[in-house]
Parts: sequence; C-alpha cells; structure tokens
Amino acid sequence: MINLKIDIKKTIGIITQNEIDAYQSIISQHHSDLINKKGKGNDFLGWVDLPSSISNDQLDEINKSAEIISNNSDLIVVVGIGGSYLGAKAVIDALNNQFAALSNNQKKPFVIYAGNNISEDYHFELLELLNNKDYSIVVISKSGTTTEPALAFRLLKNHIENKYGKEAANQRIVAVTDFSRGALKQLATTENYKTFGIPDDVGGRYSVLTPVGLLPIAAAGFDIKKIVEGARKMETTLKASSKIEENPAVLYSVVRNLLYQKGKKIEILANFQPYLQYFTEWWKQLYGESEGKESKGIFPAGVNFSTDLHSMGQYVQDGLRIIFETVLSVENSKNSLKVPFDENDLDGLNFLAGRNIQEINEKAEAGTMLAHVDGNVPNIKITIPKLDEENLGELIYFFEFACALSGYVLDVNPFDQPGVEAYKANMFALLGKPGFEKQKEELDKRLKN
Ligand code: PA5
Repeated sequence: MINLKIDIKKTIGIITQNEIDAYQSIISQHHSDLINKKGKGNDFLGWVDLPSSISNDQLDEINKSAEIISNNSDLIVVVGIGGSYLGAKAVIDALNNQFAALSNNQKKPFVIYAGNNISEDYHFELLELLNNKDYSIVVISKSGTTTEPALAFRLLKNHIENKYGKEAANQRIVAVTDFSRGALKQLATTENYKTFGIPDDVGGRYSVLTPVGLLPIAAAGFDIKKIVEGARKMETTLKASSKIEENPAVLYSVVRNLLYQKGKKIEILANFQPYLQYFTEWWKQLYGESEGKESKGIFPAGVNFSTDLHSMGQYVQDGLRIIFETVLSVENSKNSLKVPFDENDLDGLNFLAGRNIQEINEKAEAGTMLAHVDGNVPNIKITIPKLDEENLGELIYFFEFACALSGYVLDVNPFDQPGVEAYKANMFALLGKPGFEKQKEELDKRLKN
C-alpha cells in the first residue's frame, strides 16, 4: 500500500467529474503505451522499471563507494546540471537538518554543488573554501559533454590534484556517466576514476533512481534502499491499474490537462516546508522539459509557503486567472515544538500557547487553499505522511509516471529536450568555438544593433 494521497475535490466546478471520466479510455491507452514501451520516446523508458530492476548488489556498490568518499571528506562536491544534480539536491535537502552546514554534530560530509552555473565568483569562492577542507568530487554528466559541469570539473580537477597529488586525488573522484561514450567516460577511464554507468534508456531528469541521484544521496548519509523501496511500492501500484479512481498518477495527469484546457496554463507547486524548495526545482525541470514543446505545455512554477505568501501570494490570489495550484502537503513534522505562554502577551499570540507549530502551519495551508480556491485558483492536494526516504521514493516515481502520461495526453514526446540546444549553439558561437565562425559574425552583428 502506498502512503501518497491525492485530492482533486477543489478542482470540481472548473472541471467536472464527467469530464474526468470521459478521459478513461484515452488515458488507459497512454498507460498501456507507457508500461509496454510503445509510446513516443519509447527508447527512453528505462526509468519505468528502475525501482524494481535495480538490484541490491548495485545499491550495495553505490553505498560502498559513498562510504569510501565520505570517510575522508568534510565536503562532497557534486558536479552536474539539470537532471544530473536536481534529484540528488531535492532529496538531500528534503531529508537534511536545515542547519546541517553550520552544525557541529554533522557526522556525514556536507554535499555542495558545482557545474550548475557559470558564475566566476561562485567557482572562485568554492575553490577558496576547498583550500581548507578535505573533499571528494562526484562528477555527473550523462552526455559527458555539457559545458557547465565540464568547466567546473576542469577547475576542480586541477585543484584537487594540486591539493592531494594526482594519485590520491584520483581516489577522491567518482564519475557517473554513460557506460561507453562521451568525454567524461574517456577521462574517467584514462584517470582510472571509480565510475558508475547511467543506462542508455534513462534520460537526465528521470535518472534520480540511478547512481546519478543515489550516489550523492548515500554520500550525504541517507538510506537509498528505503528510497528505492518507496519507489517500488509506487511502481507496483501505478502499473497495476489504469483506472482513474485507482491510480493517483492517472488522476493527476488527467486533471491537470483538463485544467490546462480550461485556460489554466500555469501550475504552481506549493509547499509549506522549506525542506521541499529543491524538490519543487526538480519537479519544475521534470515537467518543464518534458511538456514545454511544440508551442504547448503547462508552465510549471513553484512557491515556498508561507514565505512566498508575502510575495507571490498576492499574484496567486488576485492576478491573471491562468493558474492552478498543486499543494505538496506533509502531514507530520519530525519534531515537536509548542508555542510558549508569554505573561505580557504583547504579540497577542497567547491563544496559541501550548499548541504545536505544525498545527499553525496546517491551518495556514488549509486557509490558503480555500482563499485561493475562492480566488478561482483550483487546487490539487498531494499528501505524504512525513518527509522520509520511503515517502520521497514514492513521490519521485509518482511524479515521473504522471509526467510521462501527461506528456502523452498533450501529444508530445516527454523524453526529449530539443529546445535546450538553442542557447548552447549561440554561446559557443559567441565564445568563438572553432566551427561556429559564421554564426559568431551574425550574432555579434545582432548584439550591436
Ligand atoms: O533532463 C535532461 O536530460 C537534462 O536536463 C540533462 O540532465 C542536463 O542537460 C545535463 O546533461 P548531462 O548529464 O548530459 O550533462
């Protein structure tokens, strides 16, 4: 039995139960295409069976490698961009103590990231920090040729070799890349780095349950077997039935597409836990890259409440009515903290004395949802009991499966990302990469005018 629950009652009115039911035969076809690997992009469907197909031996090997680099490091630098870091960061941030970086009790190394931007200052400051820390590097790139991680890794490789000497440095580097192709694979072989492969049929944004996500998560000290266990339960449930009332991913994909057809072009994933900020970033990449193509697709946005109720809350309540909201709700906190009684009560909060902060957060969530529904922002609620490995495993597979179905409803290939190439060609041309001379001339002219 899965823990995740979905509630779409607060969309009814904008859409109807009949409209949902009318999708049954179409969505059953998409469900069958997905699990039988017959739909669009079917050479990238390896992730569909990942939770059940990853073996305990593979997980043990990941754990062993994580332990080796953890044991001699204060920091692990994860180098990667897009699907090559967002899944790991989403899970690590969701599970970590918020103040782990500043805590003296931190037993495991702290995971930091590079290669996800091209900021000179960011990388300068990172290298400066690493001068005084013991660290290891996990460099992740499926293609092995992405500019941002390649650039960061060039800097880091140089730094770590100067710091420890080449032989010792090579023991501190683990590469996660294609099994046989690409510049990173070639480098890893030449330098004899410990290397993990990414299956050919798993694209970047669907790769969190491969070593891409699991190695950094294990290095941060979290239980990857439990994550896979949660994902396996979700896999069994979602594959078992395509019935809208039995399959939460089917329901989610149908409802969000119906809302889209009714003019709700933006989906905001809202959380009430700062731990989920990067889970939202992972979700944005998954849905944005999978659906935003051929001039269509729901625009995925994210908010962190209650923080953003004091910024984006105004727009959600009162701006253009093209939004629907999906709330990712966590039922229980890990710790207990009650509001203290104050004799003077100058802040007027004594009516809350003795009550848990979680209860206040719950009421903020419920009140916000009703206010937004009143403001014509329909609401989908997805609930998990608590933030732990198993529930995150469920959530990851749930969102991946629903995303693929949703892309099929939209009639796009949810597993390619042709639009990502446009900026790269321009950047290479402007930087004067050999072979881009003609484009450089044109672009330089356009920039001047
Ligand atoms: O989802 C995707 O495929 C992309 O976001 C990639 O993950 C991202 O571009 C990084 O690619 P690579 O792992 O090849 O460096």
